[in-house]
Amino acid sequence: MNEIVGKPINRVDGKLKVTGGATYSAEFNVKNMVHGVAVLSTVSKGRIKNFNTATAEKVPGVIGILTYKNSMQLHSPSSSDPGGGRYAEKDLLPLQNDRVYYNGQMIAVVMAETLEQAEHASHLVKVEYMPEEPVINLEKNIGKAYKPDKAPTGAETQVSRGNAEDALKSASLKIEQSYTTPVYHHNAMEPHATIALWQGDTVLFYDATQSVAGTKTLMSAMLGVPKDKVRVISYYIGGGFGSKGFSWPNTVVSAMCAKLVNRPVKLVLSRQQLFTTAGRRSQTIQKIGLGSDQSGKLSAIKHETTAETSFVDEFVETAGVATPMIYSSPNVDVSHSLVRLNKGTPCPMRAPGEAPGTYALEVAMDELAYQSGIDPIQLRLINYADQDEQKHKEFSSKNLKECYRKGAEMIGWSNRNPKPGSMKEGKMLVGFGMATATYPANRSASSAKAVLFADGHVEVMCATQDIGTGTYTIMTQAAADAFGLPVDKIKMKLGDSEYPKGANSGGSQVTASVGPAIRAASLGTVNKVVKMVIADVKSPLHGLKEEEVIAQNGGIYSKVKPSVGELYTDILKRQGMQDVRASAITKVSTRQSTESNPAAAGSAEAEIENESKTNEAVQADEKTDRKPYVFHSFGAHFVKVLVDPDLGTVHVEKAVGVMDIGTVMNLKTAKNQIMGGMVFGIGMALMEETQYDPKLGRPVTRDLSNYLVPVNADMPEFEIAFINKPDTIISPIGARGIGEIGITGITAAVANAIYHATGKRVRQLPITPDKLI
Ligand code: MOS
Repeated sequence: MNEIVGKPINRVDGKLKVTGGATYSAEFNVKNMVHGVAVLSTVSKGRIKNFNTATAEKVPGVIGILTYKNSMQLHSPSSSDPGGGRYAEKDLLPLQNDRVYYNGQMIAVVMAETLEQAEHASHLVKVEYMPEEPVINLEKNIGKAYKPDKAPTGAETQVSRGNAEDALKSASLKIEQSYTTPVYHHNAMEPHATIALWQGDTVLFYDATQSVAGTKTLMSAMLGVPKDKVRVISYYIGGGFGSKGFSWPNTVVSAMCAKLVNRPVKLVLSRQQLFTTAGRRSQTIQKIGLGSDQSGKLSAIKHETTAETSFVDEFVETAGVATPMIYSSPNVDVSHSLVRLNKGTPCPMRAPGEAPGTYALEVAMDELAYQSGIDPIQLRLINYADQDEQKHKEFSSKNLKECYRKGAEMIGWSNRNPKPGSMKEGKMLVGFGMATATYPANRSASSAKAVLFADGHVEVMCATQDIGTGTYTIMTQAAADAFGLPVDKIKMKLGDSEYPKGANSGGSQVTASVGPAIRAASLGTVNKVVKMVIADVKSPLHGLKEEEVIAQNGGIYSKVKPSVGELYTDILKRQGMQDVRASAITKVSTRQSTESNPAAAGSAEAEIENESKTNEAVQADEKTDRKPYVFHSFGAHFVKVLVDPDLGTVHVEKAVGVMDIGTVMNLKTAKNQIMGGMVFGIGMALMEETQYDPKLGRPVTRDLSNYLVPVNADMPEFEIAFINKPDTIISPIGARGIGEIGITGITAAVANAIYHATGKRVRQLPITPDKLI
């Protein structure tokens, strides 16, 4: 062990990123490339009667305009393909017919020699519609709600135990309230961007995606091109947050454009276009019912969510997904309903379900704390779940009590006077609030390949991707650890569908899925070297047993006599070998459903080269009995807010997050991830909201000047800590993913702190100044 795992090393791609050397999808210089600009519908429902493209076509430089009339025919991707990515709108394959289902739907693309020419011409495309009456508003159409069966994420949508209705009726203390969250947009820094390039019968995509492997399968299916003729590259991604998890029209349409004009086409969505045709978080209305006895012990939890989906797919914002297991209660009832609207389809957005769900539930818990006169932390301890009471299984590892204790200490909870409005600094009202954070610890099948070269450097390959979170860095650390090499000897190669298939960057699963595969491929390579040296009479390690040697300091050494051993470079030179390599597939899955899990279900196996895919590391990993367990991460958020009593403005002064996420792979990137989630949650609490024109169904807040995201001036002082106890059940590396847990609970903690400061309970997000004065 060279003790590299956990170290807060800088990002291995940091220098490339700050010097402009990291090439993002839109930045590849492809010869002969043309620029596409999308034309979006301006009605929310109806049919396209006519395109008048004559004026646009006359613009100098314009070489083609793609509409449904001249586009190639697409095939419906089968949702049962376990290796497939998911197309976001299954009943609306782009540019196939004259139907319009939402305002801002992609209906044409203008292609020209320059971006400016394409942009200009795109505004000259005239579209005549036969409009129909759209369904725009969730509240007004609540009567049309229906109960979906399953969420596309695989989560159950209707879950109950005992009889929550009756238990709530007879409870001596109860909270029954409704909480609402608006539509949110991901607003990743990098827009959805694709370059598509046909070379004979093969097609190459440079695509901003959370799944190069899934996008490859999906494009193969939609375009009707064999899988081995599709390649997807995504070396660097400027954030996804779920918006690049499902595939949106831009990717497949870029290939359709390239086909039409027979040249490579670059298609990048503008910030405004991202607000309609690249996903969003569904609006939610959540009714929470909590019943308890006088001591605060919960007897009933009800969580009814009404959300929206589109007319062209079914997405469920599973706000109640954590509710059956987060607290102990004999009676639980969780339900989800959907209303179809003529708006673009919602999709996963960082902590899909849990982010709005923990907001509502954790505010309700705070309300119960006040009603019962019990401290909010104490109330959570009284109702602490020692196991998953819905599934009757143990947690693989849970240290939430420690998170509460540590977080309370870090924020100075003991100095809090619980009486609302009682604490002040100057004229500012001071409030402290807390909430529980939780997110599942997902793991799915992944494969990887490692190659040790004669010069002593290593290349590791996996068709997963780094969406900006630090995947390159922590996987480099995992490989360096296995090889006993410094990180600068490891070249981590991700973001290319040609590599062995890895997990998609969704559901916070990459660390726990890809990490073990990379470790196993690396250990498999090391083991081949070990076998070689102990059998080689010329090696100082000759005759030792496998378990008597260790990979460290750039080679293989004796465990008992660390001065005895030799460098990889010396070993390979003596053996006359160019390289030593090994591949590995780890098929462990902690997910209930593989539907949202493109890398799962053994499909990785078919794609790896014809060599051994298993070794001792894989076997040991797969031997662990995971059936008695459920896999979740937990944490606690604490915030201090200052509220201006005259202006109603809220400043989060301090935010503390203590997370129990298993092994911390890199303290720096881990803090960065949690901080990013917390910023997301503060935005959700205080300012973010997409507003729609009530008649046109078109977002009116559709750029960053009126869709407000937190900026530096909004930032609190952050203190982030980890429990850092390895989860030995989930995988040999002991780490659980951290992409999403940071945003869960923090929104409620802010709302609860505002109540503590002001005595005002705002149940409609965002908590803007007008709601506080
Ligand atoms: Mo995440 S919202 O599953 O990309």
